[in-house]
Amino acid sequence: YKILFASSEVHPLIKTGGLGDVAGTLPVELAHLGQDVGIILPAYPACKIHLGNLTEVACLQLPSTPRPVRILKSQLPEGPNPVWLVDSPEYFDRPGNPYLDENGQDWPDNASRFATFCQAIAAFASHPALGRQPDIIHCNDWQTGLLPPLLSQAKNRPATLFTIHNLSYQGVFPRQQFEALKLPSGWWSPDALEFHQQFSFIKGGLVFADWLTTVSPTYAREILTPEFGCGLDGVLRRRAEHLTGILNGADYQHWDPIHDTFIEKPYDKSCWHHKAFNKLALQRHYGLLEDETIPLLGFVGRLVEQKGIDLILRALPKLLSEKVQVVFLGQGDEDYEHALQKLASRYPHQMGLSIRYDEQLAHGIQAGADIFLMPSRFEPCGLTQLYALRYGTVPIVRRTGGLSDTVVDATEENLRRGRATGFIFTEPTPSALLAAIRRALALYHQRSLWRQLALTGMEQDFSWRASAKAYLHLYRRLVPN
Ligand code: ADP
Ligand code: GLC
Repeated sequence: YKILFASSEVHPLIKTGGLGDVAGTLPVELAHLGQDVGIILPAYPACKIHLGNLTEVACLQLPSTPRPVRILKSQLPEGPNPVWLVDSPEYFDRPGNPYLDENGQDWPDNASRFATFCQAIAAFASHPALGRQPDIIHCNDWQTGLLPPLLSQAKNRPATLFTIHNLSYQGVFPRQQFEALKLPSGWWSPDALEFHQQFSFIKGGLVFADWLTTVSPTYAREILTPEFGCGLDGVLRRRAEHLTGILNGADYQHWDPIHDTFIEKPYDKSCWHHKAFNKLALQRHYGLLEDETIPLLGFVGRLVEQKGIDLILRALPKLLSEKVQVVFLGQGDEDYEHALQKLASRYPHQMGLSIRYDEQLAHGIQAGADIFLMPSRFEPCGLTQLYALRYGTVPIVRRTGGLSDTVVDATEENLRRGRATGFIFTEPTPSALLAAIRRALALYHQRSLWRQLALTGMEQDFSWRASAKAYLHLYRRLVPN
């Protein structure tokens, strides 16, 4: 098939979270399965710098912007895939984060920015520079939500697949923005883009795409309920027959301790004890006591409600009364950042904190910590727990979404059968989290059981191959050849 993969982030060009990881890996894996997969994303400054040799292949006149938009072509640095950048300097040539300004506020013109992105892709899909029109356009998250409705107007259009990576980010804007974009007035309806008198990008994907997927089977079921549906469970229930959950994979090229160039000392199952060198390096990095017998817990993630950071914050004072160390890498909501900073200054000998984005340190924590904390309130898939498993860093997760699908709780029975890979708790409360941490700490001190638990995690195979095949299977349903 010829597939165009549309995403607002693609690792290693630009990334704020797991969407970047997925968009940087799934297209490569599909190409290895013999498919012709191109990637299209906005021309953020970071992408232009990273890609270097770019050639202009098209210049498009779009309704959402008076200035022409250029399409620049290059190739993914580590894959066979062509990459196209939508170059609209007035919208994308800005420093920093793709969605937020320097003060952490949404860019005020996000509706116009991503409408332009979608209009450019819709126009480019039938442009001669692309060669044959793609069979399938694979859209990802709200930033691409207008693409399925825009394409629905075209004759002989490509099939559209819309993947929900996170239903809680919806791209909702005031009605004036809808009008300013001069979109067809018929789309202003609760059966189309209208969402409680507002203009919703994600509804475009949910209503108009030929098929919907989400990034784990459990999350696909959860979002049909009011508890996880973010107000869209009704819309999704109407589309339930066209909704599938396909679990994400982990990119073991970048996330495997045996060939990780970011970490102090590589290791695998056969030299698991070398993990300790990475632990000492991490303790040193944070100025904590360098002692490999003290349990070290790590967190890497966006500091937002989704990740259950409030549960950690409330459990921390009690946790830190025990002989443990905890390190955090993340950025996000100011309140959480401040609360963590306050605790870090109260417990300088036990807590390490980095409020920033740091790819290398993310690897250092995966390799150096004994336990990985991921008490998410909801989690569409989650990649960091998959990385933790591969690094022999035992995850503690809440029973939700992709976490339920990827971690096997260390119950007595699962331990006896050699199946356990982590610790799962259910109630979203600090005391339930603390109880799970205490279970983990108790086992940590039974060294041979702990070793077995960590090694079982390292043996799990969440490579992309199986997921890519599942997507291919779905493409075949959409476009039988
Ligand atoms: P989400 O997509 O919800 O943020 P995932 O677990 O799917 O969660 O993916 C998060 C990705 O972003 C992982 O690759 C993780 O290592 C990375 N990440 C998150 N926060 C940071 C940070 N502060 N520094 C470096 N990497 C980070
Ligand atoms: C989202 C989700 C996360 C998922 C990632 C990649 O950001 O929050 O659970 O792993 O997308 O699909």
